[in-house]
Amino acid sequence: MPGTEKLAMHGGTPAVTASTAEQWQPPVEDEKRAVCEVIDQRFLSGSGTGMPKEFEDECRERIGCKYFVACDHGSNALAAACYAAGLGPGDEFITPSAGYLGTYCGALHMGAVPVFCEVDPHTLLMDPADVERRVTERTRALIPIHACGRPADMDALLAIAAKHDLVVVEDAAHALGSTWDGRAIGNVGHIACFSFQGTTPGGKPAAAGEGGAVATNDRELYERHLAYCHLHRSGITKELTLEPYCHLDSEVLGYKWRAHPLAIAIARVSLGTLDYRIRRVAEHRDRLFAGLDGVGGFEPVRNYPKATGSEVYGGLRIVTHPDLLDGLPAARCVEALRAEGVPMGGIGLFHREHLRWIYANQFELWGRGRGRLPHYKPGDYPLTEDLHGRALHFPAYIDPPDGLLDQCIEAFAKVARHAADLL
Ligand SMILES: Cc1ncc(COP(=O)(O)O)c(C=O)c1O
Repeated sequence: MPGTEKLAMHGGTPAVTASTAEQWQPPVEDEKRAVCEVIDQRFLSGSGTGMPKEFEDECRERIGCKYFVACDHGSNALAAACYAAGLGPGDEFITPSAGYLGTYCGALHMGAVPVFCEVDPHTLLMDPADVERRVTERTRALIPIHACGRPADMDALLAIAAKHDLVVVEDAAHALGSTWDGRAIGNVGHIACFSFQGTTPGGKPAAAGEGGAVATNDRELYERHLAYCHLHRSGITKELTLEPYCHLDSEVLGYKWRAHPLAIAIARVSLGTLDYRIRRVAEHRDRLFAGLDGVGGFEPVRNYPKATGSEVYGGLRIVTHPDLLDGLPAARCVEALRAEGVPMGGIGLFHREHLRWIYANQFELWGRGRGRLPHYKPGDYPLTEDLHGRALHFPAYIDPPDGLLDQCIEAFAKVARHAADLL
């Protein structure tokens, strides 16, 4: 076949002729109805009661955790969880460089110091072995990210936390519906934070425009996070039972980060289709990845054996191995795949946090020489930098058009066969 077939980039027929459009349609009419009901009820402000409380209870039951509280953003859920974990000036926390500023900016503003770590090259998730090497007597928290809904190695991270008396604050922004060892994320570690940002599909697993939530089984973490940012939540003074929070009035510590009821109404509709979306994405992922296993040079990024990923947000990842593709660089691969009609996204991990300008220039967070950030530079996280150049993105389809995935597998195989022609 290599003798007769031609790459699309070289004038041949593209391998993909099917449409690449997602066929699943979101329940927009249900969203409109849910929003109108809230408007009709004139319940546009408030939390801890009514429909927003019902939503929290549904999520709590679904996850199986003791406490689940919605808030206005996933990043604020993370900030509140970092406060609950007791992060303060001079404490260190460990989070992947292949991460996100919103994951840890709350901790940063509390004066805690980011220590980045590498990711496991096969899962692209926080590498516990590298985490362990970076723990010091100042470390207070680990902040893993369940990126694209794929859970980090919770057994290993919780073991490190137990050994060094650390709190694990999970960035589960993408991971509502994911599981670890048969338990839902939110019922595994110390405190997990979800995001409801975006619209369905494409947005976070339960998308509400904007929104977030904290889940925990730990009463101290729960009460401390409530005290931080849930001013005037209905019933809050009764909820605060532990010292010293039980002495606070309903204005607690002053922040009001509660979720907007209109957003919760939309999140609730989105939650109603989540199980279907997760199941379908997993089926198509497995089919695509089984096909790619037979190609060589393209490594599908899978879950740890104990995990199931929701994977409805952020897309699928495939790591290229140029050494198995005649030296073909990832960028050239993507060019050739796109020419074949494959709906490839970009290349890269999330971000490379250590390369931010604020670290290269040791930004002073509070001005006047105060809150100087640590210094990081290119080369500090070589594995992350290397993987960033080799991680390909493929859409996570709920209902792909007929034939699309098989044609995409064939396109990968075609590009692999002709890798040398693309140099
Ligand atoms: C990994 C990760 N963490 C945290 C967040 C923050 O969530 P939000 O946008 O709801 O503040 C996001 C949002 O995209 C994210 O991708």
